[in-house]
Amino acid sequence: MAFLRFLRRRTLFRVFLGAAALYILLYGLPDALVRHSAEPAPVKKQPQYIHPTAVNFSAFPPPPPPTRKPLLPPPPPPPPPVLGKHRYRKDGLVEVNEEGPHPIYELIARAEKEWSEKLGRASTTLKEAVEEYQRRYKRMPPKGFNLWWNYASKHNVQLPDEYDTIFHDLEPFWGLDPEDLHKIQAEAEKKIDSYTVGKNETEGNIGVLTYTFSEGRYDQLIVGSKEIIKLFQQIQDVLPLFRMTISPHDGPNRLTDHGIMQAVLKAAASGTYLKRSALPKKKELGWVSACPPTSLARQNPIDLDNPPPWPTKKTFIYNHAQTMNPCDHPDLFHHHGQFLSHNSGPGPQDVVVPEFSYCSTVLHHNIRFPVPYGWVEDILPRSDDPPFEEKLDERLLWRGSNTGMFHSSTSRWEHSHRDFLVAFSNDLSGKAKVLNPVKSVNEQVGVFKEFKRANLNPALLDIAFAGQPLACSASTCDTLRAIYPWREYQSLGEAGQYKYVLDVDGNGWSGRFKRLITSNSLIFKSTIYPEWFVDRVQPWVHYVPVQVDLSDLHDSLLFFRGDPNGDGAHEDLARKIAHTGRLWSKTFWRKEDLISYLFRLTLEFARLLSDDRDAMTYRL
Ligand SMILES: *[C@@H]1O[C@H](CO)[C@@H](O)[C@H](O)[C@H]1NC(C)=O
Ligand SMILES: *[C@@H]1O[C@H](CO)[C@@H](O)[C@H](O)[C@H]1NC(C)=O
Repeated sequence: MAFLRFLRRRTLFRVFLGAAALYILLYGLPDALVRHSAEPAPVKKQPQYIHPTAVNFSAFPPPPPPTRKPLLPPPPPPPPPVLGKHRYRKDGLVEVNEEGPHPIYELIARAEKEWSEKLGRASTTLKEAVEEYQRRYKRMPPKGFNLWWNYASKHNVQLPDEYDTIFHDLEPFWGLDPEDLHKIQAEAEKKIDSYTVGKNETEGNIGVLTYTFSEGRYDQLIVGSKEIIKLFQQIQDVLPLFRMTISPHDGPNRLTDHGIMQAVLKAAASGTYLKRSALPKKKELGWVSACPPTSLARQNPIDLDNPPPWPTKKTFIYNHAQTMNPCDHPDLFHHHGQFLSHNSGPGPQDVVVPEFSYCSTVLHHNIRFPVPYGWVEDILPRSDDPPFEEKLDERLLWRGSNTGMFHSSTSRWEHSHRDFLVAFSNDLSGKAKVLNPVKSVNEQVGVFKEFKRANLNPALLDIAFAGQPLACSASTCDTLRAIYPWREYQSLGEAGQYKYVLDVDGNGWSGRFKRLITSNSLIFKSTIYPEWFVDRVQPWVHYVPVQVDLSDLHDSLLFFRGDPNGDGAHEDLARKIAHTGRLWSKTFWRKEDLISYLFRLTLEFARLLSDDRDAMTYRL
């Protein structure tokens, strides 16, 4: 029994040991058994509160100065915005896309390219010039063409092929029966207020052959002939016989009938001609008689009581000659004295009449003359015309008299180009919407920026009439004196201080353009007269073209000179155009260039009016 008890105790002990081992395996040693080392039990840390005043700040050393980052190359510029395209319209204007770059960058680049291409393709030999003539005009040049070529080469006349203005002006007369043409020319000689210049004897000099001026006006009206005859003197010995009837007035006088013009041009193009009696009957539509029936001007009859609204789309000129066409730009009828002085226009001619004038419009068929009036060799003394960057005044300058049309209670002079210019430029009311003068070609031009006119106009423009009102009835003269600023005429030296100068038409073309473009200033030009040199000059290369309604004037000026603070200026481009314009004047508008034009014009006209055009044609 004792053994059995012993055995039972042992068995019980083993069972106990087994259970304890199982417990440890499953739950680990009980705490009391584990914490037997000397380490004290860790005390749980409490957050300690430190009163600010108790802090010894000297114990905290100041933070070390920030280490300067090594200079990295600037971060790459954000990719240029995707730029929108401007819309080049058929009427010679480009319509601005606000998501595009400032259009003037592009207008300058395009013009420079066109100009250098034109220079690059110019004929260099007589043979090339004859071929180019045939290619353009589908006939051989006039007799004496080789003599003209000799003159042009000897005198270094540039662009020997660019005389499309002569073709344009003379081509209609090729479509008229030569016998009728002679009669019409003889009639024109007898018309009041004209003079006829020519050569009537083979060994004779060129001079005034006849004139028909109204009583007492001889001295005034013959003046223009003097410079013209001087121009002829160098070439009179080699010219054939001819008679040119010239209008002594500032503007053109032979309004075209579109139907008649189309008929004679069509005949000319097919190498035939029409009898005067076979011409279509003219349409008495005033100015728009000269426009195609499908043109804007014919579609929307002129209503002078309702001038067109201020344009909502911003446009700039890219083809100056096209913007001078009132058929596509009927707003010209509302904005120019040439048109306003006859309201909706005189009647058209019932035949094409070969009368020369000092300037012409797209609506007239007067033959353009390379006018010597206003021609200057240079601005002298040169100290009157400092270099562009030395000119002090950054405002746009214009001074002149209120010519353009007669001012009376019954005429619409308020909208005539010079009156409108002075009123527009001195307007202090409201706001003008002007394109931002952006700083780079990669920037979108954006929507207009609004400027208070009271801030903009006095700061940017120095435009006023000079002297006293003229061309006005007594009471209207008083009105003009009261409503417009009148300042003193400026001397050339005073005018020479302006970086930016505006040129606008007067009673006819602007006689001062030659002087202005010869200066070191940047010239802005607004005109409706495509002059004899229109194919021989490049807007945006030699001058800045401006629309007659002046809707792009502030924008162009701001692009070059910047806003009233000068921000966004492009003086480098302004200086370049100013410089190139002067250079052009000195190399493309010399007396020799006028004579070269006159030489070709006279050869062509003499052939046109000769009894035997074949005999008057150049043979290789
Ligand atoms: C503050 O700390 C600084 C630097 O450790 C020591 O020199 C100074 O005696 C301390 N001031 C007090 C009031 O504890
Ligand atoms: C040429 O014109 C001048 C001036 O009108 C005149 O005196 C002269 O007789 C004319 N000569 C001929 C041949 O018609």
